Order: sequence, then C-alpha cells, then structure tokens
Amino acid sequence: MTDLYRYSIQVILTHQSDTGAYLASPSFPDYRYCWFRDGAYIAYAMDLAGQVESARRFHAWCSRVVNHRRDGVEQAIEKARRGERLDEGDYLHTRYTLDGEDGEDDWPNFQLDGLGTWLWALAEHIRFSGLDALPAGWQEAALLVARYLAALWTHPCYDCWEEFGDRVHPYTLAAIYGGLRGLMSLGLEGTWSEAPEKIRAYLLAHGVADGRLVKSIGNPVVDASLLGVATPYRLVEPTDPLMRATVERIEEDLRRDGGGVHRYAADTYYGGGEWVLLTAWLGWYYTEVGEVERAAELLAWVEAQADEQGNLPEQVPRTLTSPPHLEMWRRQRGEIAQPLLWSHAKYIILRHALKARV
Ligand code: BGC
Repeated sequence: MTDLYRYSIQVILTHQSDTGAYLASPSFPDYRYCWFRDGAYIAYAMDLAGQVESARRFHAWCSRVVNHRRDGVEQAIEKARRGERLDEGDYLHTRYTLDGEDGEDDWPNFQLDGLGTWLWALAEHIRFSGLDALPAGWQEAALLVARYLAALWTHPCYDCWEEFGDRVHPYTLAAIYGGLRGLMSLGLEGTWSEAPEKIRAYLLAHGVADGRLVKSIGNPVVDASLLGVATPYRLVEPTDPLMRATVERIEEDLRRDGGGVHRYAADTYYGGGEWVLLTAWLGWYYTEVGEVERAAELLAWVEAQADEQGNLPEQVPRTLTSPPHLEMWRRQRGEIAQPLLWSHAKYIILRHALKARV
C-alpha cells in the first residue's frame, strides 16, 4: 500500500459528513455538496478499500434523500406516463447539501446518470457487505428510483459533465442500464425491469457512428465518459470491437504526449485540462482487457499529479483544449478543485483493479 492510497482513504473519510454524505471537494465553493454521481463512485472505492461502513452511511443518506421526496418523484413518474412536460421542481436533483436539502443556487439539476450509478454502487455494496438483501428503507428508495429512471430515460437531460441538457447521452443511458441491471442482480423485478434491454437496443441503434460510440445522440464526437458504457456498466463488453474502437478514438483525440485524459475536444471548463479521474478510469478499462502495462502507466501518471500532501486535483492544466478559458474560470470561480474526492476514488479503484490482475 502506498501512502497515496492510504491518504486517499483518509481524505474521503475526513470529508464524509456525519450524515453519510461525501463532499465533492472541500476547496471549491460550487462543490461543497454531495453528488449522487461522485458519491456513488466514492462509496464503491470505499467498499473496495474495506471501508464498508463508510459506504453504508452514504447509501443510507441517499435512501433518505430519495424517500423524503417520494410524493414528488411519484408525480414525475405519473407526468412522464401521461406525456406531460416536467418542471424543474419535479426532478430529483443531481446534488444536495450534506443535510440532504436542495441547494440554493441555480444548477443544471436534471441529470439521470448519477441515480443509475447509485443503484449500481448499491448493488455492489450489498455484495461487499455480505447482506442478503437491501434493508427495507433502501429497497423502497431504490425501487422508486428504478421506476423514475425507467419512466424518464428517453428524456433529454444534462450529461455527466452537467452540460448539453437538450440531448440524450450514451453514458447516461449506460449508467441507467447498469443501475437497473444491478438491482435485478439482487433478485428485484418490476415493470422497470424491461427498461435495460430497451435502453441497450436504443443505444446500439442511435448512439453509434462509424463503429464508435458517440458523445450524445446526434453528436458524433467522442467523450471520455464513454468508458463507462463497458467499465463498469457492461452495456457492451470491454473487448467488444465497438468499445475497442471508442477507446482508440479517446486515445487519439483526448490524450496528448502520453499525458492524462481530456473530457472531450471542445471542452472549455478551466481551459479543458487533463482529468485525473478519467485517466484512472482509462487505466481501469485497460485492466479489464488485460493491458496491465498501459494501466500501470496511467496509474503512475495519476500518482504524479498529487501535491506534497497527497491531494489529487480535478484536472491538471498541462495541455488544454481551450487555453483562454483557464484564466477566465480562475477569475470567476477560483482555483481548480483540489482535493476532489472523486479523483481519489478513481485512483483507489484503479489500484484495486490492477492488483486483481497481477
Ligand atoms: C463535473 C461533474 C461532477 C461535479 C462535482 C463538475 O464539474 O462536470 O461530473 O459531478 O463537478 O465533482
């Protein structure tokens, strides 16, 4: 175990609230919330690291957040069934305060991927914790979210980078697929359990161009989050030619001189730097196709991005997709978030994935 591995666990525990919520980043005001997306990957990393109690507390927090909004969620499902337009107040948000309240500032809150990721991580947690089934309150929340996702997956929503809310995104679809399949693996069924196969068929029919997955339906460029379609959501196998071709394109378009991974070629957020969590994610993918050396190189790159204390940033402004935007964002929002708990989580995940392969 290296120090960075131990430190990563420590950073996550330090910034887990008594309520169970994980802070996305303590250093960056916009990120002083708990996201379903970040939190679910963090919980999975903590399960891998043997910190099952930390993951349990996060899942309990998520369940409370959802159950507390049951009536609103039922209403959203009903509106979607009737083909009515949903309003801002109908959606489950993507992030909440540590106490589980809605945030006060405006935020692109309608994002479905994080809820799918939560269901996926929850199913993984049940395996790690040795429980036979979901505790009652968790099951209530998970089944409600499953019905919500099955009712809404065709709706355009913001992507995992909180952008392009007028589109449907393959990564989001895959996260929903993976989450619903995760619940089914626990023996749970419902009308929602027909959704995964429909999602898969839709994605393979509309989310592919020139033998590669696309960033969003109708936009053929690549996005590094597409790694998730295989790793971990298994909508396609990591070795599937579609995934291989997508990863080749990620390497060509989103990595320069053996560095870290950019989100997508037209990214402007903080100039569009190299993302630590995506670099670790690419390594995780490579472990799944047996390319251990490549994964080890990416791990070494990630480790080299930690500051003296061991804090990993969100992104590194080494090569940029849009240099003028770096200063603009710095002036508006301050320095790049560091530590970002999700970066530490993906590092932990890659460490475990590599260890399982060597
Ligand atoms: C990223 C999201 C992430 C959030 C909190 C945003 O900038 O695009 O993916 O969930 O930060 O870390």
